[in-house]
Amino acid sequence: MRLLSPSCGEIRGTTHMCGVMRSVLPLLLAAALCCHGCPDKCLCFSQTVKCVNQDLDAIPRSLPADTKSLFVTGNRVSRVSADSFPTRLPSLTDLYLGGNGIESVDAMVFDNLPNLARLDLSNNRIQAFSERAFPEDNKVQLLNLSRSFHNHSFMDVVQSVLQGGNLLQLAVLDLSNNDLVILPDDMFTGLPSLTNLSLQNSSVLSVLNGTLRAPPLRDLDLRDNGLRDLPFATLEDLGLKPALHVQLAGNPWRCDCFFEDTLLWLKNSTQVVDAQNLTCADPKALRRRPLLRVERSQLKCSGDMEGVLETSYVFLGLVLALIGVIFLLVLYLNRKGIKRWIYNIRDACRDHMEGYHYRYEINSDPRLASLSINSDV
Ligand SMILES: *[C@@H]1O[C@H](CO)[C@@H](O)[C@H](O)[C@H]1NC(C)=O
Ligand SMILES: *[C@@H]1O[C@H](CO)[C@@H](O)[C@H](O)[C@H]1NC(C)=O
Ligand SMILES: *[C@@H]1O[C@H](CO)[C@@H](O)[C@H](O)[C@H]1NC(C)=O
Ligand SMILES: *[C@@H]1O[C@H](CO)[C@@H](O)[C@H](O)[C@H]1NC(C)=O
Ligand SMILES: *[C@@H]1O[C@H](CO)[C@@H](O)[C@H](O)[C@H]1NC(C)=O
Ligand SMILES: *[C@@H]1O[C@H](CO)[C@@H](O)[C@H](O)[C@H]1NC(C)=O
Ligand SMILES: *[C@@H]1O[C@H](CO)[C@@H](O)[C@H](O)[C@H]1NC(C)=O
Repeated sequence: MRLLSPSCGEIRGTTHMCGVMRSVLPLLLAAALCCHGCPDKCLCFSQTVKCVNQDLDAIPRSLPADTKSLFVTGNRVSRVSADSFPTRLPSLTDLYLGGNGIESVDAMVFDNLPNLARLDLSNNRIQAFSERAFPEDNKVQLLNLSRSFHNHSFMDVVQSVLQGGNLLQLAVLDLSNNDLVILPDDMFTGLPSLTNLSLQNSSVLSVLNGTLRAPPLRDLDLRDNGLRDLPFATLEDLGLKPALHVQLAGNPWRCDCFFEDTLLWLKNSTQVVDAQNLTCADPKALRRRPLLRVERSQLKCSGDMEGVLETSYVFLGLVLALIGVIFLLVLYLNRKGIKRWIYNIRDACRDHMEGYHYRYEINSDPRLASLSINSDV
């Protein structure tokens, strides 16, 4: 800009038309800025414009018309809207807007960038992202949404953009370092060209049946999530993509009896490029054991069973103790009746025993015995 806008002093040195120039200059200046000038606080070289760490609160409005790559990173642009790119920039293919604290990406913001192919929105705090942000015939192939979203509450925003954003040519999607947690099974169905997907460090707990079925994935990064196993249907989905490479290290695999399918798949599959780096997190006996060195016979749920049995024994003991206490209490409350009952029994016994005693005495006396036999006869 400075090069293209000579000061009035220099002009006065060569001509005497400074007064005239004073009125014409703003027009010339505007014209120069419009088409060739480099915006204030930016560096321009061979179709690249860099406005990096300049505390800008908006995207510079007057960019060289032939700009191919634009970096407005590390500033404090909190919103991008249709006004952000007021002139058409048909050469612009690469746009870097990382680290700005962007909160809102509005409708039609990229309508003047018809050849935008790579968009980096990483390290922002997006809370609103219009489904209409991209024109219908957009050519976006790479979208970097690494650490882009404010927090987990705005994950439905991600989903609606991916589903309804007309990203038909999107091949590379970076969703790493977001707090996604759950991947809805229709999350990637609107991305028919998606080949590289990074979900690294995105708190993913489970990959549901069908989530990864639609896109023609070739490179899938699932490192550093919360995966404990992979459902059989997901393994089948992955198996249907022979060209796919998956990274799975840094997940807390649970090596119990339900893990058999996953283990067999991991041992047999050539798709998991970091298979030798996977380790069990559970149970204790197998902690940090490389998965490839775990045998099928070691996958047990016995730990759980022991626990269950233990608790059931404790429960049984408690119930028995309670019954005992109630029994003693009943005895105590009825002590008088019981005493009477015992006396009655004792008396009855005594009467009975006396009868026996008498007979015994009779039987044990031989004389009386023969007498009684005779009398019986
Ligand atoms: C996305 O941006 C992050 C940091 O801003 C970078 O490390 C990563 O490589 C980018 N991803 C892609 C696919 O370019
Ligand atoms: C996400 O951020 C919003 C706004 O700052 C806040 O109200 C909400 O509680 C946060 N949600 C989570 C899950 O942290
Ligand atoms: C993982 O993602 C979280 C946000 O979900 C981020 O705070 C953290 O720094 C990331 N970890 C690494 C190693 O990048
Ligand atoms: C996409 O995946 C391919 C094949 O796995 C890989 O060679 C390439 O580097 C990846 N591209 C990006 C941008 O990650
Ligand atoms: C997965 O989903 C398909 C349909 O989308 C269904 O036919 C299949 O039974 C499901 N498999 C499992 C294991 O849920
Ligand atoms: C192992 O992989 C081969 C092909 O790579 C396949 O034919 C076979 O069925 C697989 N075995 C199991 C148990 O998955
Ligand atoms: C396995 O982990 C080591 C150490 O973290 C790393 O250097 C190596 O590249 C990893 N291997 C693969 C195939 O990812």
